[in-house]
Amino acid sequence: MPSARSIAVIIPAAGSGSRFGDVRNKVFAMLAGKPLWMHCVERFHARVEVSRIVLAVSDEDRETFEQQATDLAIREKIAFCRGGSERSDSVAAALATLDSDNNVQWIAVHDAARPLVQDEDLSAVFEMAKLTGAAILATPITGTVKRGMADAVGCTTVDRRELWTALTPQVFRADVLRSSYARHHGFPVTDDAQLVERAGHSVALVHGAADNLKITFPEDLQLAEAILKRYGNR
Ligand code: CTP
Ligand code: MG
Repeated sequence: MPSARSIAVIIPAAGSGSRFGDVRNKVFAMLAGKPLWMHCVERFHARVEVSRIVLAVSDEDRETFEQQATDLAIREKIAFCRGGSERSDSVAAALATLDSDNNVQWIAVHDAARPLVQDEDLSAVFEMAKLTGAAILATPITGTVKRGMADAVGCTTVDRRELWTALTPQVFRADVLRSSYARHHGFPVTDDAQLVERAGHSVALVHGAADNLKITFPEDLQLAEAILKRYGNR
């Protein structure tokens, strides 16, 4: 396991939640009495490996984040930076704020919109990152997968045994993530592992819980409530 206080966490939270459709950023939506982003922060705050947490936020949202971060212990560990127009810009901005900190050996990136990640999955992905330098949580694709075009004749079936949905956190040795981002040059990516892969590093998949879902649409919130209740009753 990575040693105490050796991991910094980046939480990109600077989106607008356009598919969620609320007037506010979806990360302020309430789940079991707390905003989504606070669930994420608390899960990482509770880990001894985590030394600090940087949230990338938009200028517009910053004040609301500051107002909601009332717990003093949590306040001490978190910092805010200004996010960018793409998720990768937000992560890059957070990386820049960590740049001068040589105590950071590992960096975990976790979506502010994934409030349900469980402790045992954090342990597993932290451990694998320590062994390999780059590890992500992922969950196997369960449906039958077809390749083809909508309303066109002639699809084929893809072997799903090698297919996974990428989740977060994605955890990297700090130098691996920094050098991968330095070579990014704005190429569109949908997760951080893709950047690291493109820079020539191997990324390990860690089988995580499928219910570590990303809140995207309003109905995801009801699902999240149900999942949280089930975990609470275990
Ligand atoms: N994010 C970010 N900076 C951006 C875009 C997204 O920090 N420029 C963050 C979001 O706040 C979210 C995470 O990246 O926590 C995953 O992105 P997504 O689920 O796509 O959130 P949004 O971009 O806010 O939602 P949408 O795509 O529906 O607008
Ligand atoms: Mg988005």
